[in-house]
Amino acid sequence: MLLLDVDSLRPGLETAAPIIHPRRPTTELANPGVVLDEVMIATMARLGVRQAWVRWPSLDFLDSRIDRRVTALRGDVYELLKADFQAAQATTVGVGQYVRYCSAISNLVCDLLSAGHAGGGVQTAALFDHDHGLFNHSAAVAYLALTLALRLETYLVRERRAAGAVAACDITNLGVGAMLHDLGKLQAPSTVDVHEPLDGPPSKAYASHPRRGFTMIGERISPTARAVVLHHHQRFDGSGFPDMEAVTRKRRAGPLRGRQIHIFSRIVGLCDTFDHLCHDADGRGRPVVAALHDLVHSDLHRRFDPILLRGLLVHVPPFALGNVVRLCDGRLAAVIGLSAKRPCRPQVRLLQDDSPATRDIDLSKRADLHIREALGVNVEKWLFELPPVNAEAAAAAG
Ligand SMILES: [Fe+2]
Ligand SMILES: [Fe+2]
Repeated sequence: MLLLDVDSLRPGLETAAPIIHPRRPTTELANPGVVLDEVMIATMARLGVRQAWVRWPSLDFLDSRIDRRVTALRGDVYELLKADFQAAQATTVGVGQYVRYCSAISNLVCDLLSAGHAGGGVQTAALFDHDHGLFNHSAAVAYLALTLALRLETYLVRERRAAGAVAACDITNLGVGAMLHDLGKLQAPSTVDVHEPLDGPPSKAYASHPRRGFTMIGERISPTARAVVLHHHQRFDGSGFPDMEAVTRKRRAGPLRGRQIHIFSRIVGLCDTFDHLCHDADGRGRPVVAALHDLVHSDLHRRFDPILLRGLLVHVPPFALGNVVRLCDGRLAAVIGLSAKRPCRPQVRLLQDDSPATRDIDLSKRADLHIREALGVNVEKWLFELPPVNAEAAAAAG
C-alpha cells in the first residue's frame, strides 16, 4: 500500500484503508477495497481530505508493517470527548467519567502493546492529518503521548521511581491527562487563541486555561491526571506557566522547571507543541518533517526535556512507511524502511523502476541523493539531522 496526496489520486486506484472525514474521525467516506472514480476524488478534495492509502502491488509487503487502526483508535478518544463536552457544555469531570476514560485508555494501551506498537514509529500521516479542533487535537496528543511513553518506558519508570516499580509502568493517567489537557479552553472566552503563541508570551486569557481545566476536574480524580492538565505548559527551561505562586498560595514562586515538572506533564507538553507545529496559523496541515525541523532548529528545544525530545525525534518518522516522495533527481519513490540515526534519509523504493537490483535505495548511504518533495510539498528546507546528544538521551530513545 502507498500513501498518496489527494492531487495524485487517479480513477481506477483502489483504497487500501478507510478514508476518514477530516473533521469527523469516526465517519468513513470510503471503505478499503473501493475503486476510486473522479467524483469520489473530487469529493475528497472538497471535504479537505489530504491523502489516502491505495493498493500498490509492488509494495504489498508493507501492509503488515503499517498500523491502519491508528485513526480508529484515535477516533475512540475523540468520540468520548465529543459526547461528554460538545453538547452538554459540561463544567466538571466526575468520577463516573474518569472511570470511563481510564477504561478507554487501558484498552488503547492494550491494543498498542498487542500490536507491538511500542517500538515502532507512529503512522504520522494518519495521526496528524486532522482538522485542528479541540477534540481532534486532544485525541492526537493522547495517542502520541501514550506511544511515546511506551517507547521510553525505561526512562519513564526511572523518573517515577517514587511510585514503585509496578505503578511506574502504569500510563493510564498520562492518557487521561492528555485527553483532558485543554479542557479549560471550553470555559475560556471564545476569542482566546486556539494555539499557544510560540514566539511570545501567551495572552492572559490563554494563560488561564490550565487552571480553568484543573478546577473543572474534581478532586477525587487521580492527582497525576489533574497535574497534567495544570502543568502541560510548564517548560523545562522554567519559562512556562502558570506561576506556582498563584496555585500554591505563595508557598512557591515562579513556574516549575526541569525535573520539578512531572514526567507525564513533560510528555504531554512536548506532544502538545508538536501537534500545534503540524498546523499553520490557519489550522491547515503542515508536513511532519516541518514540525520536527522546527523543534530541532529553533529555541523551542529549550522548553523540553532533552531525553523526551530525542525520543520524539526518533519515534515520529518525518517520512512514514508508504509515503510517496520525490527525490532531488526527480524520481518518485515510496518509503520502505526507516532510519533511526538519519530520519530524513530513509530507505526508498523507486516507483518507476522494476529492476530488483536498482529500485531500492538507502538514502542514509547516498550523499548525492535526498528527498525533495513529500506528498506533493517541497520539503528541502526542513530536512534535518539529529542533533548531538548525551549518551543518556540516546540510550533512552533507543
Ligand atoms: Fe494547553
Ligand atoms: Fe493542547
